[in-house]
Parts: sequence; C-alpha cells; structure tokens
Amino acid sequence: MTPATGSTAPAEGSTPPRHAEETPDLVTPRRRRVVLVAAVADNGVIGLGGDIPWHLPEDLRHFRATTQGHTVLMGRRTYESIGHPLPYRTNVVVTRDPQWSADGVFVAPGVEEGIERAQDFEGDVMVIGGGHVYVAAMPLATDQVITEVHMSPEGDTYYPDYDRSAWRETRREERDGYAFVWLERV
Ligand SMILES: NC(=O)c1ccc[n+]([C@@H]2O[C@H](COP(=O)([O-])OP(=O)(O)OC[C@H]3O[C@@H](n4cnc5c(N)ncnc54)[C@H](OP(=O)(O)O)[C@@H]3O)[C@@H](O)[C@H]2O)c1
Repeated sequence: MTPATGSTAPAEGSTPPRHAEETPDLVTPRRRRVVLVAAVADNGVIGLGGDIPWHLPEDLRHFRATTQGHTVLMGRRTYESIGHPLPYRTNVVVTRDPQWSADGVFVAPGVEEGIERAQDFEGDVMVIGGGHVYVAAMPLATDQVITEVHMSPEGDTYYPDYDRSAWRETRREERDGYAFVWLERV
C-alpha cells in the first residue's frame, strides 16, 4: 500500500480514525460496508474499448452522490480511463505492478488488501469497477448499487453473474430507459 502525494485521506487536523488497538475497551471498529457500484446493460455489458458504451448524465450524478465521502476502490484500467483521482473520495487503485503509482491515490496489490486498507478511512468501501475488480470483490460485497441500463450494446467487459437468491432488493427508482436499484446481501 503506497500513499502517494496529494492523497484524499483525512486531512491533518481532522479526527483520526479510531482503532481497536488504541482504545480496546471502548471502541469496536466498525466494519465498512463493501458496496459494488455499477451501471450494467441488460446483456451484462459494462464496458467497451476501455470506456462505458452509453452516456447518462443523471447516472453520473447518481454515481457522485452514492460515492462521495467514501473510499472508492477500482482497477488500474478503470483508474486510467478516468485519468485522475475522484474528488471528495479516498481513491484506492488495485494493480499487480509494484512500480505503479499516481498522485492522489493509494495503491493496493489486491482487492482484499484494498478493502482492508479502506477500513482506516472514512465511510464505506465503494467498489467502482471494472470487470476484473467486480469479479474479485463480489464474494466480499455486502451491498450493490446497480444502474440497470435498458439497452444491449456491444461490449468487451461484463458484470459478473451472481446468485440473485442471495440478494434482497431494498429500493428501486425507475427512470426512462434505466433504473437505480439497491441490493443487500441476505
Ligand atoms: N459500467 C460501469 O459501471 C463501469 C465501471 C467501471 C469500469 N467500467 C468499464 O470497465 C472496463 C475496465 O474493466 P477491466 O476489467 O478491463 O479493468 P479493471 O478491472 O478496471 O482493471 C484491471 C486491472 O486492475 C488490476 N487488477 C484487477 N483485479 C486485480 C486483483 N484481483 N489483484 C490485483 N490487481 C488487480 C490489474 O492491473 P495491472 O494490470 O496494473 O496489474 C488489472 O489489469 C472499461 O471499459 C471501463 O469503462 C464500467
């Protein structure tokens, strides 16, 4: 784990995270929710050629509202397609390349390590893709926030299959051509 310069970790002077080791009798550390946040087409497609094959401005606003104030965990390719750290969020990028770094992001050698590292930061762990990272994070996820995109575009990256009976839909907001859906692990 490499904190690079310009990280969005809690600023000096803000309340530091409290760890069980510091006050063992008083504090039970809160396990962060691990939330997969994805926009998924009806045919499972989430990406094409390093990009997302649709443009839904309201989904981008929904994504911002869902993830701000939390830690976002993403694969190196997704980070590079965004091109910069997401503001108002602690950014953790997963890569197997020990040489890789970028200003303003923490680097983790695996998804589990990234989730573990995020326990130190404010808010929940928002896993924001892409395909490889969703696959590795699915068994660890407590929640999913899915934008169901009602189209079937060409794609080269897919959201992983998961056992629907293991998840309960807690909220759904229908829009024209897509829907925001919240799922919790049963
Ligand atoms: N629709 C959506 O909601 C959504 C969201 C995000 C992304 N996307 C799309 O998804 C596509 C990118 O997804 P992708 O699957 O190609 O790439 P990705 O998951 O973003 O990144 C893959 C890279 O992350 C690292 N990585 C992944 N899993 C790892 C693990 N378990 N341990 C260590 N490192 C790991 C590796 O980096 P190294 O090669 O550096 O080792 C790997 O090459 C793009 O088209 C993007 O636009 C869609």
